[in-house]
Amino acid sequence: MVSYRIAVIPGDGIGREVVPEGMRVLEAAGGQHDISFKWDTFPWSCETYTSTGAMMPSDGIEQLRGYDAIFLGAIGFPSVPDHVSLWGLLLPIRRQMQQFINLRPVRMLKGMVSPLRDRGPAEIDFIVVRENNEGEYSEIGGRLYSGTEAEMVVQESIFTRRGVDRVLRFAFELARNREAKHLTSATKSNGIIHTMPYWDERFSAMAAEYPDVRTDQYHIDILTANFVLHPDWFDVVVGSNLFGDILSDLGPAVAGTIGVAPSANINPTREYPSMFEPVHGSAPDIAGQGIANPIAQVWSGAMMLDHLGHPKAALTVERAIEQVLQDPALRTPDMGGKTSTVEMGKVIAAAI
Ligand code: NAD
Ligand code: IPM
Ligand code: MN
Repeated sequence: MVSYRIAVIPGDGIGREVVPEGMRVLEAAGGQHDISFKWDTFPWSCETYTSTGAMMPSDGIEQLRGYDAIFLGAIGFPSVPDHVSLWGLLLPIRRQMQQFINLRPVRMLKGMVSPLRDRGPAEIDFIVVRENNEGEYSEIGGRLYSGTEAEMVVQESIFTRRGVDRVLRFAFELARNREAKHLTSATKSNGIIHTMPYWDERFSAMAAEYPDVRTDQYHIDILTANFVLHPDWFDVVVGSNLFGDILSDLGPAVAGTIGVAPSANINPTREYPSMFEPVHGSAPDIAGQGIANPIAQVWSGAMMLDHLGHPKAALTVERAIEQVLQDPALRTPDMGGKTSTVEMGKVIAAAI
């Protein structure tokens, strides 16, 4: 029996509803594969901010450091401005823990209904590799002459050679190990004059090291169109922080619902724990109703198992999700059904 210490941050909104279902399913998978979990819950959220003035304690990152992984729901609620809540908790974890790779698989699972006519599971199956520490998400910038007619704001994008190369290399390695061996780069070098041509330059330099990987690149505008018109064209898609963010909501929507989309914030050096969370947010519009789809959280748990060295256990979880979706009666409202969050978690756990 191998045991892991997991830091759990349910966060806000539906994060608190889907995280327990993720844990339920992981417990079931652990039972099958001789894995046990010691869960420590950190109630850091927008409520923490309202009562203490901070999203987490000042030594929050230190508190998380010794864990094997972090299992997070979602952060953000209308009670706190989003840039305050996210820059107070989620983004500092991703950065300070050097989780510079964000893996976001997009798959139309059997049983999902795509909004695209005539597209099936065989045609929507790719993975977005998102740069997760720099790019358009940067604190560099500021505001001048506030409240006057001369008011101005500046927001800088940061693309370092180290940061660009490490995400590109990760994506090339990933593509090399997949059947299709195909990597697409998201760019915008026609409109963004410095950073994006640099990104393209590093992409083509690295492509020379991976002659076995077929490459292409699209400007982000037509790439979004192609996600809709030709999802079957994609295998691994690499993008900057912002482009990867946008593509990883669009991809799952095209597959049927963002309620199933998982993500892994990976620190490949393993110097710090990695973090596993759904792609979606706290969904304030449905929070508290018990109807959120827990599959994204559950599938993120599968990614955690994989990262911890248990690919078979991860597969057990993925298979259980797919098995449950064979029954058209088992659908949360985002998939057109009436199944509740807890019921869905329970049937997936039972399928395991
Ligand atoms: P959102 O992903 O929370 O919701 C978008 C839409 O998708 C809503 O209609 C919601 O009901 C639906 N939805 C999302 N997840 C669902 C699920 N599991 N089941 C069923 N329906 C689901 O995006 P938003 O509305 O832009 O953001 C809400 C809050 O969440 C904001 O504070 C935002 O900053 C935050 N957010 C956090 C994360 C994160 O913690 N990783 C990610 C995205 C957004
Ligand atoms: C995501 C979210 C976050 C991001 C927000 C909440 C800062 O949208 O995980 O996709 O942009 O990274
Ligand atoms: Mn997002």
